[in-house]
Amino acid sequence: MLTLSEQALLRSQNLIDDRWCDAGLGARLPVADPATGETFANVPDSDAGDARLAVDAAAAAFPEWSRRPARERAQLLKRWHALILAHQEDLARIISTEQGKPLKEARGEVQYGASYVEWFAEEATRICGDIVAEAVPGRKLLVLKEPVGVVAAITPWNFPLAMIARKIAPALAAGCTVVAKPAEDTPLTALALVWLAQQAGMPAGVLNIVTASREHTPGVVDAWLADSRVRKITFTGSTPVGKHLARESAATLKKLSLELGGNAPFIVFEDADLDAAVDGLMASKFRNGGQTCVCPNRVYVHDAVHDAFVERLAQRVGALHVGPATEEAAQIGPMINARAVDKIARHVEDAVARGARVVTGGKRVRTADGPHYYAPTVLADATPAMELSCEETFGPVAPIFRFRDEAEVIRDANDTPFGLAAYFYSNDIRRIWRVAQALETGMVGINEGAIAAEAAPFGGVKESGYGREGSRHGLDDYMHTKYLCQGQLG
Ligand code: SIN
Repeated sequence: MLTLSEQALLRSQNLIDDRWCDAGLGARLPVADPATGETFANVPDSDAGDARLAVDAAAAAFPEWSRRPARERAQLLKRWHALILAHQEDLARIISTEQGKPLKEARGEVQYGASYVEWFAEEATRICGDIVAEAVPGRKLLVLKEPVGVVAAITPWNFPLAMIARKIAPALAAGCTVVAKPAEDTPLTALALVWLAQQAGMPAGVLNIVTASREHTPGVVDAWLADSRVRKITFTGSTPVGKHLARESAATLKKLSLELGGNAPFIVFEDADLDAAVDGLMASKFRNGGQTCVCPNRVYVHDAVHDAFVERLAQRVGALHVGPATEEAAQIGPMINARAVDKIARHVEDAVARGARVVTGGKRVRTADGPHYYAPTVLADATPAMELSCEETFGPVAPIFRFRDEAEVIRDANDTPFGLAAYFYSNDIRRIWRVAQALETGMVGINEGAIAAEAAPFGGVKESGYGREGSRHGLDDYMHTKYLCQGQLG
């Protein structure tokens, strides 16, 4: 049992039309401790019927919510933001417990998620259209921004608070109403967040949430896909699921924001500051145990600095503390489940079989807490023939590829269907502009490993999806543009 200062944060029901309720058919979804796989809580296992009830509520609430003055919507979001920060420690404990994120990082995630709520509260009051110079006398041409309508938000397990916050906050700021479904592995943080929105005074039906198992999720999502009242789907998750959403939403031509898989390159040029590059890789690769879409998946190091870089990196990685996420000292917690650890082990075994050298780590770890841990790992002599070069490992494994020239490394970095994030370290200003422009990704970290921020547009290109989250672009994605032409004014 998870003990919190505010025990009411621990919800075990859906919220539909301001009412906490069980799934219509009464089914339950067990929530497992990622370290052991053992159940420690349960929530509703909802189906299509529950999903439709949530849309009924969101559709009914939309006319009133969308007409509210932006400042009122902003004030509500600000109250929600304050409540999230006031409950930071409890929320961090829920995240750590259900997701396995080390407690220190979980506290950071609460702040990170809250920053989107604050940002979009502020942006709500700055929604502007245009008045366009008329081409014909006696006419006025005006452009309005309007909320798209009911938004379905489908969120992943790796940032159980921040991902749902950065979808819901702009939707509400724009004047949309929301139906949300968090990942089956991590429903408790999302329910707590929605409970706080209710405490902040969110009107009935404006924000609804249903939880569902892997088996029932297709039923919930298909109900939303088929419903013409749902005007937008925002999704973070795998590319195959993103493609399914794009195909199936075509029947009602919904707007889509898809933040999908990545395969980020991290390039260290011969003119880089090596200590800064090691710091950057530690921050971006080992955050959340390597379970983020923007994590470097392929580390390219120039031949001239390769050995020095690998040695410094291995020292830092070997010193990372692996242990229960809720312990203050933990730097790498458990992976999300047994399947995740199996995939990491498979990638490392495949790499070693194809000639990679384990510099540090390279094995499963069993702590007193449970079996779902993997040692932070550095592999040298990685090649494009290895599985980990084509597929996201989603774990604490840094494979190092040696390269000799810029053109070769750009070609290899771009040789993937994915295009979410890329990183590189160099001190040559001409190279910096050349490489930043040549990389086929939506985001580029230049001498920086931690790039996400509420004020920046987060999103990818190619098969990493489309749409942006955060920044003014993130708000625009929840609105459509309406053109008014008024004549007879001459
Ligand atoms: C993600 O892994 O999709 C999100 C990571 C972030 O917001 O930095």
